[in-house]
Amino acid sequence: SKSYTITLLPGDGIGPEVISVAKNVLEVAGSLEGIEFWFKEMPVGGAALDLTGVPLPEETLSTAKQSDAVLLGAIGGYKWDNNEKHLKPETGLLQLREGLQVFANLRPASVLPQLVDASTLKKEVAEGVDLMVVRELTGGIYFGKPRGFSTNENGEEIGFNTEVYAAYEIDRIARVAFETARKRRGKLCSVDKANVLEASMLWRKRVMAIASEYPDVELSHMYVDNAAMQLVRNPKQFDTIVTNNIFGDILSDEASMITGSIGMLPSASLGELGPGLFEPIHGSAPDIAGQDKANPLATVLSAAMLLKYGLGEEKAAQRIENAVLDTLNRGFRTGDICSAGNQLVGCKEMGEEVLKSIDTKIPAA
Ligand code: NAD
Ligand code: IPM
Ligand code: MN
Repeated sequence: SKSYTITLLPGDGIGPEVISVAKNVLEVAGSLEGIEFWFKEMPVGGAALDLTGVPLPEETLSTAKQSDAVLLGAIGGYKWDNNEKHLKPETGLLQLREGLQVFANLRPASVLPQLVDASTLKKEVAEGVDLMVVRELTGGIYFGKPRGFSTNENGEEIGFNTEVYAAYEIDRIARVAFETARKRRGKLCSVDKANVLEASMLWRKRVMAIASEYPDVELSHMYVDNAAMQLVRNPKQFDTIVTNNIFGDILSDEASMITGSIGMLPSASLGELGPGLFEPIHGSAPDIAGQDKANPLATVLSAAMLLKYGLGEEKAAQRIENAVLDTLNRGFRTGDICSAGNQLVGCKEMGEEVLKSIDTKIPAA
């Protein structure tokens, strides 16, 4: 039988709650496909700060690098919000993404028929939405230099950051996006701010250059402000979206709400070599942490992406996706996606119901 080593990074807030569910789901889905997992749990974010004084201990990064895939819950919380930048939980996550060189972040947003009522958009607008945001993850304003605090000529405090992209960074994310679009409905929309920003002007130029390698993909360009509007006006116009680090962060949270809840959206962060990093797009949700209220499905679906994109274990991934749909069909909902007539459950119970569905559901061939 096959075996894989998975680094689990529960992190902060609801992170440990959703990771515990996803771990059980991985174990059961794997065992039904003859796969054995060796889990290594390591601290990251605020949990790591409290334990070791840094948000990404060396041992956490080296363990992650040596494993076959990494599954992360979420990081961050009020307690560490006023820390200096290098001692913020968020810095640990950025160091992890950089350390694993996972430059391509795939964030799928599809409206499940079972959850059309949970969307804040009208049924006819939300129904059938199926899009993929390809977010650049290791460049742009998150990492650009110079950055920092200083004072201006009037002696006033200033904070500054730099949006910078090198051609090779745009080329490689563009190729991932064209490949993704090719396997979907063949439409790619590149989102930028090329009417104002030099980094976006280069972005558009390089995306257009790479397009010549993909004549079968229909490419369009959109400014980010318009894209934010179009996402709620008519989200069905989108198939694959490719965009920079910060625009992708914002647009994927917006896209999540079309599907009913940010608690549903998974992601896969991939590089050229080494293990992928899989995480829900949501954060540590301090407002509901420790109350067994979190929706674990974004993390469970991230575990399915781990199997599919990280390990090539498509059948085990399919088992998990089917089990999530079956659980929703049976009416179980956490608070964020609960409508009239549903059965309201907590994080743990949702996990138990998904496990029952895995056991009883035979995967699609
Ligand atoms: P958030 O995503 O944590 O929460 C936003 C809202 O969505 C909250 O009302 C929360 O309760 C709700 N929510 C999020 N996930 C949910 C789930 N699974 N089920 C039900 N409801 C859910 O964003 P925020 O409040 O802006 O940030 C909180 C902390 O998380 C901050 O410290 C931030 O830096 C961090 N953060 C971390 C990540 C990450 O680890 N990848 C992502 C985003 C934010
Ligand atoms: C996300 C988060 C992170 C980001 C933060 C916590 C660094 O919002 O994963 O979407 O901005 O990338
Ligand atoms: Mn985000």
